[in-house]
Amino acid sequence: MPAAKVSAPAEKSLAQSPVDSLDAARAHLIVALDAPNLSDALHLVDRLEETCMWFKVGLELFTAAGPTVVDALTSRGFHVFLDLKFHDIPNTVAGAVRSAARLGARLLTLHGAGGPAMLAAAREAALSQPNPPQLLAVTVLTSMDAAQLAAIGVEGTPAQQVERLARMGMQAGLRGFVCSPEEVSTLRGLTGPEGILVIPGIRPAGAAQGDQKRIATPADALIRGASYLVVGRPITQAPNPAEAAQQVLREMATALAE
Ligand code: C5P
Repeated sequence: MPAAKVSAPAEKSLAQSPVDSLDAARAHLIVALDAPNLSDALHLVDRLEETCMWFKVGLELFTAAGPTVVDALTSRGFHVFLDLKFHDIPNTVAGAVRSAARLGARLLTLHGAGGPAMLAAAREAALSQPNPPQLLAVTVLTSMDAAQLAAIGVEGTPAQQVERLARMGMQAGLRGFVCSPEEVSTLRGLTGPEGILVIPGIRPAGAAQGDQKRIATPADALIRGASYLVVGRPITQAPNPAEAAQQVLREMATALAE
């Protein structure tokens, strides 16, 4: 695995003063730009540019706007998490990883359920590129519960399936994973401090759950061992996204300082 280009998991020692801990929190918050087109996405970025440094480009926005959106973000100095969740035959995923690596994203997802051969091909493809993104294997989507898993033929709990996929991913050489807040502690135990654990399903107290099933507050997710938190609708759909992001950052900063 190439050396992670992203910062290590949050260190308590980063939190020296309220300002320092807010900066530390900012380095670990990724806002999901789930917008239908480039102009809506950039409007949101304008509102958040003083508050956030990481943005996640997912399927909705990338399908609408393509690589232009990644370019628009990196040229303004933001870090990009390209969440395209590749899941295909190894040769196709390897090619997609090479293409994605040329876009300048720092984090890139693929589905752990693609299997060991697909993950190994992705890793090899990333290593062949000059500035590869950190690969993240998505374990079980945070919108899935035991009933959803059973419907696709997976017996056992989401936690068991997450652990199985993470162990398989580690055997394929990956050290980055996406899981829900409920499985962070287990995966942190598996990966040790060098693991990059990126956690969606974050809901500040009182926020609407939406379609997410396995959720936690920002503070809980960090305390359990998250490296990065992914927050979408609680920030992007708020009447004042910058204020909502500040509130999440303050909660993260308090958790980092503890
Ligand atoms: O709006 P919300 O905070 O639920 O957004 C979560 C984001 O994280 C979405 O963009 C979703 O695609 C992504 N995600 C997820 N669960 C995963 C992987 C990514 O919710 N396992």
